[in-house]
Amino acid sequence: MPPDPTPTSSPTRLIGKVAAVTGGASGIGKATAFRFLTEGASVVVGDLNPKSGAAFVEEAIAAGFPAERIRFERVNVAVEDDVAAMVSAAVESFGSLDVMFNNAGIGGAFGPITEVLVDDWDETFHVLVRGVFLGVKHAARQMISQGGGAIINTASVAGITGGGGPPAYSAAKAAVINFTKSVSIELARYKIRVNAICPGAILTPLIQQGRKSDMSEMLNQYQPWPEGGRPEDIAATAAFLACDDSRFVTGEAITVDGGLMASGPLGSGISSTSPSGWVGMNRGTTGQGPTVHRRGE
Ligand code: NAI
Repeated sequence: MPPDPTPTSSPTRLIGKVAAVTGGASGIGKATAFRFLTEGASVVVGDLNPKSGAAFVEEAIAAGFPAERIRFERVNVAVEDDVAAMVSAAVESFGSLDVMFNNAGIGGAFGPITEVLVDDWDETFHVLVRGVFLGVKHAARQMISQGGGAIINTASVAGITGGGGPPAYSAAKAAVINFTKSVSIELARYKIRVNAICPGAILTPLIQQGRKSDMSEMLNQYQPWPEGGRPEDIAATAAFLACDDSRFVTGEAITVDGGLMASGPLGSGISSTSPSGWVGMNRGTTGQGPTVHRRGE
């Protein structure tokens, strides 16, 4: 089943646009590729996994999207020639590149920092940071020659705070957030907008690998929104950042996390609306005592 790309109001804001999506054969990238197709764009999906890439093309055609608007390229985002070839493929097939979604990702190096292998650390940064740099570099070259475009990078809430992922992953995502902001300044003069999306916990194959129940438990404890994040939630934000509705938005990192970041270090429920049953007013050290009563009393 293809992801549900159907927004409540079915906008078609990307008619005539050309988009490239890295990591577009699975999870967030796949949902976004479907959303871009739904909104009228021609889409090049770039992914390291040719099997899921072929499956994406098959699913998209079976879902009724015209084959002439879909192309798959096998790409390793950490390899400059691959990324350059993906941009060329978009231009050769569809005439331009208006939207670049640098989204491919892996979980990366994990385990005690004293044990992490240098090669694993480097590979994490190659995919998550170098991949985004190369995507921005080659998309920007094309977009400058066209007179503008929109670049979107997938970061993570793990890049905003500690504890959201292993250190290598979190540091790489923090780099994506800063790179997005830094490079947006340089590219604004060419009318190229560069933004990042920081997803919270989104139920995709990456996050579900062998630990679905851990995830649900973690979310029940910390995420205020009572439902799980879906790839389509990120796709909807990517579509907004891709289209002219976000004409004046650049250098921004948008968190899409069901309130996870808003809930602070202790998670929701502990410091806000207390589920413990107590309601009241804490007057600190003013010398004026607190008022406390049981809920409903
Ligand atoms: P996913 O595993 O479902 O999809 C990732 C895709 O990227 C796969 O198709 C994979 O083949 C591709 N890929 C990996 N390395 C590649 C490379 N070197 N070159 C080209 N393609 C490559 O994962 P998901 O969850 O959709 O992740 C997408 C992005 O979202 C990643 O950047 C991830 O770090 C980020 N993210 C995901 C969150 C989640 O909760 N799922 C939370 C925050 C960020």
